[in-house]
Amino acid sequence: MKGIVLAGGSGTRLHPMTKTASKQLMPVYDKPLIYYPLSTLMLAGIREILLISTPEDTPRFEQLLGDGSGLGISIEYAVQPRPEGLAQAFIIGKDFIGDDGVTMVLGDNIFYGPGLSPMLQRAVARTDGGTIFGYYVHDPHRFGVVELDEDRRILSIEEKPKNPKSNFAVVGLYCYDNDVIDIAQNITPSARGELEITAVNNEYLKRGSLNIELMGRGFAWLDTGTPDSLLEAAQFIQTMQRMQNVQVGALEEIAFRQGYITESEFVSSARTMKNSNYGKYLLSIVDEL
Ligand code: DAU
Repeated sequence: MKGIVLAGGSGTRLHPMTKTASKQLMPVYDKPLIYYPLSTLMLAGIREILLISTPEDTPRFEQLLGDGSGLGISIEYAVQPRPEGLAQAFIIGKDFIGDDGVTMVLGDNIFYGPGLSPMLQRAVARTDGGTIFGYYVHDPHRFGVVELDEDRRILSIEEKPKNPKSNFAVVGLYCYDNDVIDIAQNITPSARGELEITAVNNEYLKRGSLNIELMGRGFAWLDTGTPDSLLEAAQFIQTMQRMQNVQVGALEEIAFRQGYITESEFVSSARTMKNSNYGKYLLSIVDEL
């Protein structure tokens, strides 16, 4: 299974300076926003990742994350010239995906909660069809909305409906088999001129091969698309880290715990950051072993 982080330009409701992909390079609390979605793919067990961003920002991401070898993963880069829709990622990433399945996470989505890894690994292990993730929200009209029957089977998916049929938002994390490349190549742009991820999901639904996992209570999904949700995300990370003295989205820690890097690689990477609280935290993990 390959992974894509889509961190391109957006129609955010933030200040124009943050409208570009640069937002994902800026910190949410104490680390770049991009760390959090990247950590989600790593926790899913995905080690071959393509990061797609704007022509201006792709080199900046490359400077920040390199080829991923320090984290025991491989990161490649590709450019999306214009924000022409989430589903365009599968066309841009066609050669990278090859014959594999692919999991895509949006560069501004943060996931945190108990059981995240097993839930992701379950979705990634499915070899046929697609899996979306649902999350109960109070403002579904802002998102893709999924309607379910009593047995939690998917009845419909609508993009930002005026009259949502449920409170379940489709979060910015999607697992697909290799058919997604063909599907993305055959959908037509929506009224707003984008290749919509909802059109991809509806095609899987039509084929009877779309699954859903619901992220339950106690689970945090933070979409950082508005000023308020961006601030709330920073506050959430601060609260979690201070209360439990754990780091959310510490890529080196995840790489180490997942067995992607050895203890000595982990220690030498932590030592390069030993003057920061982040580095001190990483070194404290080794002391506890
Ligand atoms: O966050 C979850 C929601 O993401 C889903 O519920 C919706 O179904 C899905 O369409 C999407 O809605 P948004 O309104 O949040 O999408 P937005 O256009 O803001 O883009 C989300 C992120 O993806 C944002 O960081 C920018 C990036 N992006 C977006 C587009 C359209 C790209 O990198 N390239 C693009 O072409």
